Order: sequence, then structure tokens, then C-alpha cells
Amino acid sequence: ENLKINISKTFDFISEEKVNGYKSEVASHLKSLYEKTGRGNDYLGWVNLPSSIDDTELADIEATAASLRSKADIVVVVGIGGSYLGARAVIDALSNSFDHLLTDRKDPVVVYAGQNIGEDYTAELLDLLKDKSFALVVISKSGTTTEPALAFRLLKDLLESKYSANETKERIVAITDAKKGALRTLANQKGYKTYVIPDDVGGRYSVLTPVGLLPIAVAGIDIRAFVKGAQDMEKTTAHEAENSAAATYAAVRNELYRNGKGTEILVNYQPKLHFVAEWWKQLYGESEGKEHKGIFPAAVDFSTDLHSMGQYIQEGVRNIFETVLSVNKANREVIIPRDEADLDGLNYLAGKRVDKVNKMAELGTLLAHVDGGVPNIQIEIPELNAYYIGQLLYFFEIACGISGYILGVNPFDQPGVEAYKSNMFALLEKPGFEEETKAIKAKL
Ligand code: PA5
Repeated sequence: ENLKINISKTFDFISEEKVNGYKSEVASHLKSLYEKTGRGNDYLGWVNLPSSIDDTELADIEATAASLRSKADIVVVVGIGGSYLGARAVIDALSNSFDHLLTDRKDPVVVYAGQNIGEDYTAELLDLLKDKSFALVVISKSGTTTEPALAFRLLKDLLESKYSANETKERIVAITDAKKGALRTLANQKGYKTYVIPDDVGGRYSVLTPVGLLPIAVAGIDIRAFVKGAQDMEKTTAHEAENSAAATYAAVRNELYRNGKGTEILVNYQPKLHFVAEWWKQLYGESEGKEHKGIFPAAVDFSTDLHSMGQYIQEGVRNIFETVLSVNKANREVIIPRDEADLDGLNYLAGKRVDKVNKMAELGTLLAHVDGGVPNIQIEIPELNAYYIGQLLYFFEIACGISGYILGVNPFDQPGVEAYKSNMFALLEKPGFEEETKAIKAKL
């Protein structure tokens, strides 16, 4: 069984014929992705990643994960953007919601660093780790990104203060470029175990490389099932081409965009999917938001946000559409009890599953939002497990490639993320930025 897409609830707003009309264009974009002839073709290594991962590579990642799991109670994953969100999306989607509070655990707790520069966050993390057995997975393709470099410097210092040089080395794994960057130089000098991020895979498309796979394996998740899901989606998409779910998603969102729907809201009804939405926001925002074009990717967690953003979605500016991640089957079962007094008036639900209430909230919301002028796309996921998360992430990646080509941008670069860095370096008076420092100070 594969995940499915249902776009029937967009047809009050755009025509089915128009969406079908994208097929020949989509077929040619898919061909450019597979044959690596389109814009950004230096960064298309991700397209065949699922089918090209071999058993030796998976076994090596599993062995490294096992070694970290046996040594550490806490594993800190250090990285930002594409070197952070994929792992977190999968780990959160597939872990117990109260994972960090479980006491009878066999998996280390995974925490994150280098994804922000909050001093309190940093201090609190260092406090937490001081008396704990911990290890580091440091991930940076360039090896020079400020946020993770800063966090890594502090965490490495702490490790070195607790352990011998040899033990410190055993507790650090670096995932970075094969040759370039400060992290590669340091890893080579110190003899850390390393994994390579391929040159032709950009950060936001790297979840199926060790960038995602190692932290996911450390968290105790079956990376083979995850990869198998992605492989099956790779095969299905190649086979069904312009009729695939990914092609349909790319076409329908572009048609909605051309009809004034400039914001897409990714909706989930499972709080565990919050970081899948964060990952998706990066994937689509960084891939499409350029040349003054692109759908703005937003996200909500329902039913939580029905009590906040729900008002805007129902009645605010009608420039939005929703894409709902609809999970068919909950993994756990909780039956609502009967109550003698029934003061809360909930006895009409007695004997029913909590998931039944969630499903009716979902259906009721979908109908209300469509009635309110918000087109809805549904992505049906049979259940939340590693296999379907693998399908889902690859589905979104390939759809993003097609969608960016329909939009007419290079979906594989991110020139806009440099502007803040240059200003930050100028303000911090980084050597080499003397001119920029002078110029920015004149603006203050
Ligand atoms: O998608 C991207 O390229 C970015 O989000 C990067 O992944 C992010 O800036 C981290 O870069 P690096 O892995 O070089 O530290």
C-alpha cells in the first residue's frame, strides 16, 4: 500500500481539467530530474538516493549507532537547517511523545544543538550534560556554519574536560564534506569517525544520507524500513510518472498558486508530525521562495491550532490552501469510558476510540474550511511508521523538484540565505569583513 493524494476538495476553486493539463509539462520535468538536465542539476544526487543506498552503508551506520547507543545516555545532534530538520522530523514522528521522560529506556535521549544561538538554551544544555554520559553527532556539509560550529566548540570542550582524548574521539561522529571545511580538517586531525555528505545532495534533500540516517538509527528507529519506504516511493513515482501522487501534488499546488492562493498550510492531526512540517517548510520555502515568486509554506498542528489559527483559516484573507496529512490508523487504542454522572456530557462517546473523535474533528474541519473558501489537498498515510515516513519524505522531495520547475525557479539553490550571514559577520567584525563592517555601521 502507498500513501495517496486526494485533490477533489480543490475543484470548487480550480478546474480538474486545468490540473490534468500539467501532465505533459510534469513528465518533461520528471525527465529533467532523472536525466539531471534541469536547473540546479549539480544537486540532483538525492533523486536516486533511496535505490542507491547499499547494505554495507546501512550496516556501517547501524554499527556506529550501536556504539553511540552503548556509550551514551544522551546523544546531542549538532546541526542546523538541512543538517538538522530531517533527522528531527523522523525521530519525533516515530518516538514516544514523552520520550525524554521515560525512565525504563533502551535508547539514548536525542537532543539538539547548533540549531539556534540562544545563550540560555546553550547554558542549560551544558548544565544538563555536565554530569551525564553523552556523545556528539556533529553535522555540517560546509563545515563552517556559525551556529553548529559554535555549539560544537562548547560541547567538544565539555567532552574533553570529562574524558580522555581517546574516549572523546570515540564519542564524536562528524558528518561533513569529503574534503573541504573546518569540520573535515578537525575530524581528520583528531581521528573522529566520519561520514560524507555527497557534493550533489543539498542540505534539505539529505535526510536519506548519513545526515538523517545516523541520528535516526541512534534513536532506535529502523532505518531499513525508512529507506525501503523511500525506495518504494522512488519506484512508484518513476513508474507512474505524470500520474503519480507527487506529480499531482506539484501540479495542483501550482494551479492553486496561479489562482491567487499564495500560502499553503500543512496540517497535521498528530502532534508527532510537527517537525515533519518544519522539515517540509524548509524544503518548499528554500526551494521555491526566490526571484520574488513562490508559495509561502506555513504549518499548523490540529486540533490544537483550531483554537487559535482556526479563526483566520476559516474567515481571514482567502489567499490560502491547506494540505492535510491524514493518518488513517492510530498505532495505539484508547477507549473513552462511561461516567455515571456524565457531568461533562461525554457519555455519547463512551465506548468509542479517541481516534474516532480526532477523525471527526478532521473531517468536520475539512468541510468547514472548504465551505469557508479554503481548498484542501489530502495526503493519506496508512499509518505512522518508519516505512510510511520514508514514503512521505521522498514523495515531498520529488514533488518539490517538479513543483519548483513548474514555478520556473532553480529548486536546488538558496542564494537568499547568505544575506543575514554577511550582515552578522560584519556586525561581529569578523576578519575579512572590514568593508562590510564599515558599511553596516553607517546604516545604524
Ligand atoms: O538547505 C541548506 O542548504 C541549509 O539549510 C543548510 O543545510 C544549513 O545552512 C546548514 O548548512 P551546513 O550543513 O553547511 O552547516
